[in-house]
Amino acid sequence: MPLTPAQIVAELDKYIIGQKDAKRAVANALRNRYRRSMLPQEVRDEITPKNIIMKGPTGVGKTEIARRLAKLVGAPFVKVEATKYTEVGYVGRDVESMVRDLVAVSIRMVMEQRQADVEKKATELVEKRLVDAIVNEKKKLAVDTSLEVLRAQSEEEYRSGKLDNMMIELETNEPAIKGMAIPMGGMGGDMGGMGIDLGNIFNDIMGSMPNMPKKKKNRHITVEAARKELIAEESERLIDKEDVHQEGIRLAEQQGIIFIDEIDKIASKGGGGGSGPEVSREGVQRDILPIVEGSTVITKYGSIKTDYILFIAAGAFHISRVQDLIPELQGRFPIRVELENLGKEEFFKILTQPENAVTKQYTELLKVDNVHLTFDKEALRMVAEIAEQENETSENLGARRLHNIMEILLDDISYNACGAEKKTIKIDKAFVKDNMASLIKKTDLRKYVL
Ligand SMILES: Nc1ncnc2c1ncn2[C@@H]1O[C@H](COP(=O)(O)OP(=O)(O)OP(=O)(O)O)[C@@H](O)[C@H]1O
Ligand SMILES: [Mg+2]
Repeated sequence: MPLTPAQIVAELDKYIIGQKDAKRAVANALRNRYRRSMLPQEVRDEITPKNIIMKGPTGVGKTEIARRLAKLVGAPFVKVEATKYTEVGYVGRDVESMVRDLVAVSIRMVMEQRQADVEKKATELVEKRLVDAIVNEKKKLAVDTSLEVLRAQSEEEYRSGKLDNMMIELETNEPAIKGMAIPMGGMGGDMGGMGIDLGNIFNDIMGSMPNMPKKKKNRHITVEAARKELIAEESERLIDKEDVHQEGIRLAEQQGIIFIDEIDKIASKGGGGGSGPEVSREGVQRDILPIVEGSTVITKYGSIKTDYILFIAAGAFHISRVQDLIPELQGRFPIRVELENLGKEEFFKILTQPENAVTKQYTELLKVDNVHLTFDKEALRMVAEIAEQENETSENLGARRLHNIMEILLDDISYNACGAEKKTIKIDKAFVKDNMASLIKKTDLRKYVL
């Protein structure tokens, strides 16, 4: 069962502070897509996807919300910039490439999934082969021990990693059957293939031509190295690439999210009759239209329908307005949400609450170099305040300002930390004052000037 809107918002809350409207909008859109997919075909066709336009200044969480959303539900996600595209017929990237990019991402996701799936199987197959090889090695030394005992012992030791550095003899058939390594160092026993218990296809091949003279290559190799090599070989053999492509397309079609950034930059102000770049921008909008409306795009992995893909467009809309987009396109983005400008309250929370908060990141980073950082609440309130003032008085960078200030604040510590000695550094109000003196002076001064 997919997540409910409230659950989605709760998850997003772990990373993004505020922006309730935007979170609700994406949560609803996602849920609606699921609801739509459950309806009978005739009804479904009548319902257009509820695409979203996010409007808001830079650095307030537009991209972050979309990215987290995709990650949360395991949806393939691409972020593209509207300004990167050119009208069909002109040199440049055509808009369909955004769909092809999505398919590529989706296929990579499926591929990773499959690799994880077969890893278990491959690991098992390889374990069998390697334990055989180990038993064969040991047989040479412990002549008196029964084979069962040897095998049980070897298996246990192999699993515990105890034998990782043991040298074994790996015999590889080459090059006709790639990926077929035969562990049978102790052939001398000559007891009906006693040491060879390889299972699966491998047996079939060997069984069908037991005495064929073959080019063989003996290699001495550690268990660990052999395992890596053989697992890669087995995985390759176990994955059906064609199937991965089809599944990738299906996933992109049903769950894909395309985030179109800087949509405001292709809105032409002043309506029709424009010249040069205006006309071309409108051309891009017209090209985007069928993709957002639902059409079929050919990719090298097969064709994909764009009907269910969720589109989220974003822009600051400082100069142009949403209404400056061509009406057909506006119609395809029925949901509009505005993201709020962030102030010191939000900044303080952003510094402390999210699971990936910058303070946590710096703490982890410096721990590597034996520096234990602690942050005082008061100090962070001050940082939040400085960020707000800087945003107001110089350029508004939104939450990105925090990264900027934290970097200045911790510059010395970062530069001097080299792991030599263990220390604890407390970031308190005084520390902030000292290290941000110039910045504080500047903003304080501005307070008087303005
Ligand atoms: N509301 C927020 N809560 C937590 N972190 C935030 C928030 N807004 C922004 N950030 C952080 O600031 C950075 C920039 O945010 P993001 O990429 O979402 O900006 P944006 O709104 O897409 O801006 P732009 O218009 O420049 O693309 C990210 O690292 C993000 O984690
Ligand atoms: Mg962005």
